[in-house]
Amino acid sequence: MNILSPSIMTADFLNLGRDLEEIKKAGVKNLHLDVMDGNFVPNISYGPKIISDIKKGTDFILDAHLMINEPENLIEEFSKAGCDYITIHPESTIHLHRQISLIKSFGKKAGVSLNPSTPLSYLDYVIDDIDLILIMSVNPGFGGQSFIPKILDKIRETKELIGDRDIILEVDGGVKLDNLKDIIDAGADMVVVGSAVFDGKDPRKNAEEFLEILND
Ligand code: DX5
Ligand code: ZN
Repeated sequence: MNILSPSIMTADFLNLGRDLEEIKKAGVKNLHLDVMDGNFVPNISYGPKIISDIKKGTDFILDAHLMINEPENLIEEFSKAGCDYITIHPESTIHLHRQISLIKSFGKKAGVSLNPSTPLSYLDYVIDDIDLILIMSVNPGFGGQSFIPKILDKIRETKELIGDRDIILEVDGGVKLDNLKDIIDAGADMVVVGSAVFDGKDPRKNAEEFLEILND
């Protein structure tokens, strides 16, 4: 079974509580939280306060994707906010291994995310210390971008690299109903879906359509 982790990046924030209840009814268990600082990526999203409110009001597994420079300054904050997974980018910090240890010191699962042009070799000396690898299939910063087809090869290579390690392979960006099967066949365990769930009027129906394929 594969996991759906909807990203609230493009959700209607005025009605977030309502839409989260709707996707819960569809059977969604995870949420992907895109944190952007306007520096590591050219956009700003939201921070620990929103995450902590979601934690208090729902029982989703919270998968935070930190697109911020020097995440070490805020890892404790995001841990306290209730994130279950905290994923960081190697280019955002000088000491990647230290930050992975920091995330785990708060009892959280640690992830590493690779941008489309970032090579898998960044994982070489940390792969045995992490719980999740997040492969970006768009350049991070915005929802609603198109999936970069070449990333299917990277997903296959990452799957091979993971081997029998207990690591979740998550894919993020441009995931739609029409490319979902290819992404899963390439080896993804978990997919992030933003605009295809939250754009339009019926997030519940959208999520159900993804889950039908993922639960197959
Ligand atoms: C991109 C974010 C993604 C994105 C997903 O910077 O990390 O999580 O919002 O949205 P869609 O599915 O619209 O590409
Ligand atoms: Zn993301």
